[in-house]
Amino acid sequence: MILVTGGTGFIGSHACVELINAGFDVVVVDNLVNSHEKSLDRVQQITGKRPLFFNVDVCDEKALDDVFSQCSIDSVIHFAGLKAVGESVQKPLEYFSNNLDASMVLCKVMRKHNVKNLVFSSSATVYSGDNTMPLTEQSKTGNCTNPYGWTKYMGEQIFKALCVADSDLSIVLLRYFNPVGAHESGLIGEDPQGIPNNLMPYVSQVAIGRRDHLTVFGDDYDTPDGTGVRDYIHVVDLAQAHVLAVRYAQNHKGCEVFNIGTGKGSSVLDIVHAYEKACGKKIPYVIGPRRAGDLATVYADTKKANEILGFKAKYDLERMCADSWRWQSMNPKGFE
Ligand code: WQD
Repeated sequence: MILVTGGTGFIGSHACVELINAGFDVVVVDNLVNSHEKSLDRVQQITGKRPLFFNVDVCDEKALDDVFSQCSIDSVIHFAGLKAVGESVQKPLEYFSNNLDASMVLCKVMRKHNVKNLVFSSSATVYSGDNTMPLTEQSKTGNCTNPYGWTKYMGEQIFKALCVADSDLSIVLLRYFNPVGAHESGLIGEDPQGIPNNLMPYVSQVAIGRRDHLTVFGDDYDTPDGTGVRDYIHVVDLAQAHVLAVRYAQNHKGCEVFNIGTGKGSSVLDIVHAYEKACGKKIPYVIGPRRAGDLATVYADTKKANEILGFKAKYDLERMCADSWRWQSMNPKGFE
């Protein structure tokens, strides 16, 4: 049985679909602080199976221990955590305590129940800002520009140290680039609470009429059209990478890091134009000032995941925007 912490969230729910499709039994723990249990009904509509669900905060050691006592868990995928970059700057204590406690409590309970396989949801934010592109797994990390990024970086240090102390552990660190899109059914997707921090959900809310225009954070970067370039990856590609990572963890020991991206960069205006094609409407935008902490260009070298995990992203920008638009137009208010 695979335990998915944060499994009712955007990436977590898509991972549940792909795990079930791959034949795994799935149990989800989530405190629903930034997601809806309804996403699991949608997982059932897609796959025919509803994951077992416990409304549990991963920081609650006793409650998490009870879940491990009731279910025979073989491997864990750990998504649960606070993840808004801007919010983390305003609330560093909440981010450090929640995200780091969750990882440490999870590892204590795994150790008590002799569970040895873990896949951790890390992020390209752990890379330092002065690397040349594309980023490889050997690129410099640290000097994170926000507490959220630090919690991912520090989480990685914890897992690496645990693997040194216990050679029987198998931990895979997946560094995501920019997850976007939705399952082709339109039944699950990104459902940010409040004003979206990220580009794609903001654009989709402009398209559906919830926001009247996009603000492009700077068009004077050293990029082809002056706007920020990122490595956007379809969330279903990303979810499928987790199935490969679980299988890898079950057949190896030690700690391994993988970039999960497409290896291709797209600018903010590339996204706007691709989304206009997908939704058949103009996406009004204004050019605003740069956002603090943003880099001009970030994209992945995907060789290691390709050669060792056998992972290669399948979906292009057109498909990412088409699937995002289907989810958004079928669910104008998300899961509400
Ligand atoms: C993408 C581009 C912005 C919003 C962050 C986190 C990362 C991961 C993904 C969690 C940039 C521009 C954005 C807007 C804009 N999250 N933009 N107007 O910053 O690459 O990465 O989200 O793991 O950890 O750091 O993604 O979507 O915020 O920005 O012009 O309203 O879109 O400047 O160039 P980012 P993003």
